[in-house]
Amino acid sequence: MSFPITRMRRLRQNDTLRRMVRETRVCRDDLVLPLFVVEGSGVREPVASLPGVFRHSVDMLVNEVKEVRDLGIPAVILFGIPGEKDARGSGADAADGIVQRAVEASKAAEPDLCVITDVCLCEYTDHGHCGIVEGLDVLNDPSVQRLAAIALSHARAGADVVAPSDMMDGRVAAIRETLDQGGFEGVPILSYAAKFASAYYAPFRDAAESTPEFGDRRSYQLDPPNGREALREMRLDLEEGADALMVKPALLYLDLLSAARREFDVPLAAYHVSGEYAMIQAAAERGWIDAERAMDEAMVAIKRAGADMILTYAAKDVAARLG
Ligand code: PBG
Ligand code: ZN
Repeated sequence: MSFPITRMRRLRQNDTLRRMVRETRVCRDDLVLPLFVVEGSGVREPVASLPGVFRHSVDMLVNEVKEVRDLGIPAVILFGIPGEKDARGSGADAADGIVQRAVEASKAAEPDLCVITDVCLCEYTDHGHCGIVEGLDVLNDPSVQRLAAIALSHARAGADVVAPSDMMDGRVAAIRETLDQGGFEGVPILSYAAKFASAYYAPFRDAAESTPEFGDRRSYQLDPPNGREALREMRLDLEEGADALMVKPALLYLDLLSAARREFDVPLAAYHVSGEYAMIQAAAERGWIDAERAMDEAMVAIKRAGADMILTYAAKDVAARLG
């Protein structure tokens, strides 16, 4: 039956009806807030390319996680920016490293908050790559060893979930084995499984001081045109023991999020990355777009495509709007 019997507009007439037939809703439980932690005390410095985002020292982070808890957001993901960097990223698995202290302080302040840690080397290496470098190459297997040690140190510090974001082959299995041997068989792995070599990470790299000194990340992150390959990455990470999978960036890769939703029965996360956030903020600053509506629309699109978790710099704003 079609027009004039079927009139699609009948159920769109007013807000009450629209509420009643709404298919997708974003709620607080969907949200994960990324947080940047720096050395020092009393630091709360804005990130120029990410309006509304700050880098906190550990003491100031405690206020932030309390605010997150008060807004009903269940989780944060922590990124540490160390005072010193070297070739092997020694700070990344130091027992008293920046992110380890941040985890301890966050869990002490808010025991029920889920503290996820980003497991990678790029913030800690002087060359800015996500692994161990030899000449111009990023070596896979030596990097995997480092990543497993980093994940273990995060678990020892009290991380609830570890999230490897490096895209080395075999790292999920190595992390699982190392965690289990260390007595952390209960710590889940959220794998950045389908992470693309994207231009949209640029503002993050400002915030995390992790721009590679030479070359780029295309020899380890996925090539943007390759969707089937992304599904293969996700399947492999599941075989290696990943508990949940991530697609990153989010909006440009919703096809893969929705394909993964059909294909896999595990929780899926999507990272609405720094560039996706910054574009909305920048356009809004010029008065070209309504930032709140644009952000809410992005969130609901990511949820509709199949995400269970949305990592977003707008988490606090989104949660506050949920009332
Ligand atoms: C580290 C990491 C990156 C992001 C999350 N973890 C940067 C990168 O791969 O260069 C990007 C997040 C964002 O852009 O918001 N490997
Ligand atoms: Zn990295």
